[in-house]
Amino acid sequence: MERTLVLVKPDGMQRGLAGEIIARFERRGLRIIGMKLMRIDEALAKRHYAEHEGKPFFAGLVAYITSAPVVAMVLEGTDAVKSARTTMGVTNPAEAAPGSIRGDFGLERGRNLVHGSDSPENGIRESELFFRPEELVPWTRSVDGWVFE
Ligand code: RTP
Ligand code: MG
Repeated sequence: MERTLVLVKPDGMQRGLAGEIIARFERRGLRIIGMKLMRIDEALAKRHYAEHEGKPFFAGLVAYITSAPVVAMVLEGTDAVKSARTTMGVTNPAEAAPGSIRGDFGLERGRNLVHGSDSPENGIRESELFFRPEELVPWTRSVDGWVFE
């Protein structure tokens, strides 16, 4: 089952949108198998966004993601990476489709509310970066419905 790491970014927290954002993934059918409130420090920010090191927006990106607490989640489900990213909308909120999180709540690329892993490999890498194995609580299907393993 595919996994993705989702973050409610500092602007989403400061604007009081965490519940609204989490609810959209939940209603989509993605299962929350890990969730915590945390402050990302500089070292974690740099590892998380390592692919962007050297780009002109990197310093600003690290400052932004470390500026306030975030809610970090691991979501599991069918095509979890792609499904989460369509629920989020494209990177630049000004171009994101209405009905997506970024399309409904944002306008600035540097304040785009939410993060989602961009590949199944990064879904696993980022989930392991933010959560210890014992912090994850996978679900399993049973004849009685959804239950915890
Ligand atoms: P994220 O990783 O945060 O979920 O966003 P994403 O996949 O949609 O976009 P990505 O290309 O990974 O970029 C990471 C974050 O860097 C900021 N950014 N600024 N000024 C720029 O050209 C620029 N490009 C990207 C955005 O905040 C983006 O979410
Ligand atoms: Mg990305």
